[in-house]
Amino acid sequence: MGLDCKNMLKKKILFICLGNICRSPAAHAVMQKMVDDERLSDKYEIDSAGIGDWHLGELPDKRMRERGAKQGYKLTHRARQFNAATDFAHFDIIIVMDEKNYSNIISQTKNNIYKSKVKCIAEYFVKFKGYKEVPDPYYGGIEEFDKALDLIKDGCEGILNNLK
Ligand code: 4NP
Repeated sequence: MGLDCKNMLKKKILFICLGNICRSPAAHAVMQKMVDDERLSDKYEIDSAGIGDWHLGELPDKRMRERGAKQGYKLTHRARQFNAATDFAHFDIIIVMDEKNYSNIISQTKNNIYKSKVKCIAEYFVKFKGYKEVPDPYYGGIEEFDKALDLIKDGCEGILNNLK
């Protein structure tokens, strides 16, 4: 079959962070579980990518995998780098974790349609309304990873409620 019509109807969400091994693969797994639990997996395509290329092909950071697993999230994504040439066209909504990610991705847009697809996860916080970003936990301890997961769960709920 030529065009995959079923896939064309899906809302396509891409999560972005710097390395694609901590925050964005966690957001990817959290959103996938929410969508699966609500039996909406035929309506959404979820993916994640990083701005940098340091960790290509790697599983998420062990600390994020362990903290996520404690809450029932399976982090199995393999890191890939954001590709402006294909990702802006393919995805409907591109969710970044912090303001640096936002500036970087916006600087790669070539038109206002692509610009309008880029949102910061903080825009969707409810419980954590007022927080400006999901801070990078990479150089932090377990508390920073748990805090990132709490913020990500709040943001993903907000995103899904907004899209439904
Ligand atoms: P992430 O965290 O952006 O949440 O995946 C990072 C992981 C690795 C690096 C930076 C941030 N790094 O510099 O290798």
